[in-house]
Parts: sequence; structure tokens; C-alpha cells
Amino acid sequence: MNLTEIRSQAKVKLAGVCQVCRICDGKACAGKVPGMGGIGTGSSFKHNVEALDRYSLNLRVIHKVNEPCLEYSLFGKKLKMPVMGAAIGGGTINYNDAITEHDLNSAIIEGCSVAGSIGQLGEGPSLDYFRDGLEIISGNNGWGVPIIKPREQEEIIKRIKMAEEAGCCAVGIDIDAAGLINMRANGQRVEAKSLQQLEELTKSTSLPVILKGIMTPDEAEKAAVSGAKAIVVSNHGGRVLDCTPGTAEVLPGIANGVKGKITILIDGGIRTGYDVLKCLALGADATMIGRPLALGAIGGGTGGVSLTLEQIYQELFVAMIMTGTAEVTTVDPAILFYD
Ligand SMILES: Cc1cc2nc3c(=O)[nH]c(=O)nc-3n(C[C@H](O)[C@H](O)[C@H](O)COP(=O)(O)O)c2cc1C
Repeated sequence: MNLTEIRSQAKVKLAGVCQVCRICDGKACAGKVPGMGGIGTGSSFKHNVEALDRYSLNLRVIHKVNEPCLEYSLFGKKLKMPVMGAAIGGGTINYNDAITEHDLNSAIIEGCSVAGSIGQLGEGPSLDYFRDGLEIISGNNGWGVPIIKPREQEEIIKRIKMAEEAGCCAVGIDIDAAGLINMRANGQRVEAKSLQQLEELTKSTSLPVILKGIMTPDEAEKAAVSGAKAIVVSNHGGRVLDCTPGTAEVLPGIANGVKGKITILIDGGIRTGYDVLKCLALGADATMIGRPLALGAIGGGTGGVSLTLEQIYQELFVAMIMTGTAEVTTVDPAILFYD
């Protein structure tokens, strides 16, 4: 199957949930949470896409960059490019049973690793699903990162230990899920974390810890102090709070404060290799992709995910030549054009 066929398949399976729009920008699905959209008016999701759209790339071809290096090392693994799969769980609740949680998790973890990338898995009320996800990562040589909800401390530490035993290369906490209704509705407490609580979590493990959901320079600074290895500049795909800025809008301010102190990842509205390059030029070390990989998994399983990433690789490769960017680790902000 090619990407067009994969997207057609996904559209059939996701009827009523996602229109598989030509540009996945949060307009048609505004308010669809659960589902694929952004919460409330959908403005946070839309802002992610709009923020990236505001930048163009300066075309430069008088240079010697013909074989750019896209490789990027993270958590002891050598990635083919600075792109990872974001956690996009909830087969039943978000995708109207278009895919089982197990099949979604396998497609993400295996599809990402086929493409030389690392996938992440979300978690919800069921510990069985979490365990199943860890087994998939374990069977994939540890190429995978579970993202744990900001539960009570002992519940997080229990899951971090399980991730260690499964051989995961890192572990994450989506601290921006502190207000999630579905967890509370299931009688499972999630909470905003103090710096001291974050320190307790990073000290509880030898695994690199990712803090997902940082949107301001002061919280990025706190994350760096907490002992975390990486942050994700993220508004959870616009699903946890209406009216936030787009992630690419806040990225430069955050990078200005913590670049070099902590690994800066970003997600939200990144759809192409061009978007990846824009994020690197704005100060990210690497990027993450959410919804496009869900569509790949639902429309084409493991192959759908790897093909989606392969397309992004091809776009990034060409964009690097066309902007004179030799390496993904040193991207010149001057490649960006904006009014
Ligand atoms: C359907 C869906 C489910 C998601 N589930 C999770 C999750 O379980 N844990 C998590 O940390 N983030 C979750 N996210 C947020 C993504 O990890 C990511 O931050 C976001 O989707 C990135 O934006 P993009 O989809 O526009 O690329 C989910 C997003 C979607 C769309």
C-alpha cells in the first residue's frame, strides 16, 4: 500500500471520528475530545499548525551540502533522523474501536523502529494495557518509551520500575495531563507536580526521564533543575487546555533559556520534514509526530507508520540540501523567513 491508499483506509475506518483532511490542522475536528481533535474551540491544536505556517524556508543553493547528515543520537540509540513517534493511545475512546490498543501500540513501536525512530506509548486507566505496551517495547529491543500519567507518586514509581524491567530506553510523564477528565472519571487521581515531586521521580530511576507538556521558559528551567533528561514542548496536541499558544510560538523563548542544559523535544502540528527543519531552526533538538502516525497505524499498521516517517525523512533530506543545512544538530536560524 502507498500513503494515499493508507489514508483512504484510515478514512473509512475512522468515519465519524476523523475526516483525514488533506492538511491535518484541527479545523474539522475542533472540540472532538475524546476523538482526534483539540479541546473546546480547538484553538490550541489550530495554533500549533498556524505557528509553523508563519515561517517559510529560505532557499539557498550556493554551497556544498549535497549529502546532509540526518542522524541523531538520543537515549543511547542512533536515530535515522530527529523525529520520534508521540503517544497517541485510546483505541476505543479516541478512535471509535477502529483499532485495538494492542494493534495500535505494536504498529507505533514497530513502525517507528523500522523507520529508525523511537515510538512512545500513552497509558490510561488500565494497568493491563500498560503491561502489554511494555511487552511490545521489550520485544523491540527497548526501542520505545512509555509515557506515564501524572498519577500519585507511588503509582508513577511503580510504572517506572516496570519500564526499567522491560528494558525501555527512557520513560516519560505527561505532566500536562494533570486535569484529565477521563482519569478522574475512572477514580484515578492525576495531579500537578511540584519541583520536589519531580526530583523524587527522576531520582527514583537510572532511566532518562522526559517531562512532556512544557510551554513556558520558567517551567523549562524547573524541568532542567529536576534532573529530567528531556522536555517536550507540547500542549498535548491541544487536548488538555483550550486557548494555549502554538508550540512553535513558545519554543524560541524556551530554547533561549535551557538549550544545552536539557534535551528539547517539541510536538504539535508537525506534519512534514519541512516542519521538522523549522522546529530545529527555532531551537528544538528533536521533534515528535502524533496524529499522522495514528492515521498510518489505523490505515496500514506497522507499514503505515514506517511509510509516514519515511516520507518525512525524504522531505527533511531535500529541505536540508535546499537550505544548505549540513547536520540536524546545528541548524542555522537564518534558514527561516518570516515577516
Ligand atoms: C488521539 C490522541 C491520543 C493521545 N494520547 C496521548 C497519551 O496517551 N499520552 C500523551 O502523553 N499524549 C497523548 N496525546 C498527545 C500526543 O502525544 C502529542 O502530544 C500530540 O498529538 C502532538 O500533536 P500532533 O498530533 O498534532 O502531532 C494524544 C493525542 C491524540 C491526538
